[in-house]
Amino acid sequence: MDQTKYNDFTQTICRWYKNHGRDLPWRRTRDPYCIWISEIMLQQTQVETVRPYYERFIAAFPDVEALSNASQDQVYKLWEGLGYYRRASHLMEAAKTVMSRYGGRFPQNYEDILSLKGIGAYTASAIASIAFHIPKGVIDGNTLRIISRVLNCQENIGKDATKKLYQKIMDTWIAFGDPSDFNQGMMDLGAMICTPKNPSCHQCPVKDFCQAFAQGTQKLLPVNIKNKNKEDIYLITGILKYKDRYFLIKNQEGLLADLYGFVQYEVESPLSFEEEFYRTYHTGVRLLEYEKEFRHIFSHRVWHMSVYDGELENGDDARIREHLYTWDQLMALPIPTAHKKILEAVCSREQEKSPRNT
Ligand code: ADE
Repeated sequence: MDQTKYNDFTQTICRWYKNHGRDLPWRRTRDPYCIWISEIMLQQTQVETVRPYYERFIAAFPDVEALSNASQDQVYKLWEGLGYYRRASHLMEAAKTVMSRYGGRFPQNYEDILSLKGIGAYTASAIASIAFHIPKGVIDGNTLRIISRVLNCQENIGKDATKKLYQKIMDTWIAFGDPSDFNQGMMDLGAMICTPKNPSCHQCPVKDFCQAFAQGTQKLLPVNIKNKNKEDIYLITGILKYKDRYFLIKNQEGLLADLYGFVQYEVESPLSFEEEFYRTYHTGVRLLEYEKEFRHIFSHRVWHMSVYDGELENGDDARIREHLYTWDQLMALPIPTAHKKILEAVCSREQEKSPRNT
């Protein structure tokens, strides 16, 4: 495309966004704090899922200062079900940085935004362009697909070199219009019109610029060849109880650090689970009944959890007692979705049978 065409293309996207862009709660504000929260929630999470979480989060923590003073349990509770909890922990760390390094004012240039914990190139570009109109194009699945189609380009978008090239193209295009409208217009075009399957080309505002549409190749693009298999992890997960209390541990590290969950081990039999538990906690446990297998898919691994009910022999030892929670206490803890599904399917049933049993 030549210079005049870039100008027309960008202006068309911006105009279309103004008239047809989605009405989303974080688009009704110019507050960089709110835009930041929304962009962190939108990492790896769908718009419709984020909507209620965003509203609750902003109501609870209306500004950076409020977030910087929040407790981890409070923030994680509001994050419960959204997944990828590291995002919430990075948010808290970044809020403290904004207070200490920038006097509570959200940084206003791309490099400073990028330097905050939890903010990568995509999020920094989104915040910089939406909150401060800085011409930095966003690169993600949507924009990679649109560029491949507009230019009828066969480059593999799974390769870093292609992403670099497309970043340059986005940064050229975005300079011809309002950066906020252009980036969000590209996001919405990708979500609503230029979809991966069956794109609605006849409704597309930029079909006249699209070389794939001209050639009829839009359904073949983008080329995206990946070779990443998810790792399967097989676990035995114990819903362990002592009288009417549940045994839960707070994860110390990894993907779900600082969240609470059932004990689970990568072992092959209930007997090995009991032995492993005894080695760790010096108290006996007996698995009594198999419930069923639950599966949870993370971005790069799958947990296959064989869930058993079990009973602790002794709940009086301090090392055990500190992990025992009543139903009401447990409901107030941040618990990752992988285990929340088990709680809802297995334990809620039990609570319904004896609602006073807390
Ligand atoms: N995905 C990531 N950022 C977004 C935004 N600001 N609006 C809609 N979808 C998004």
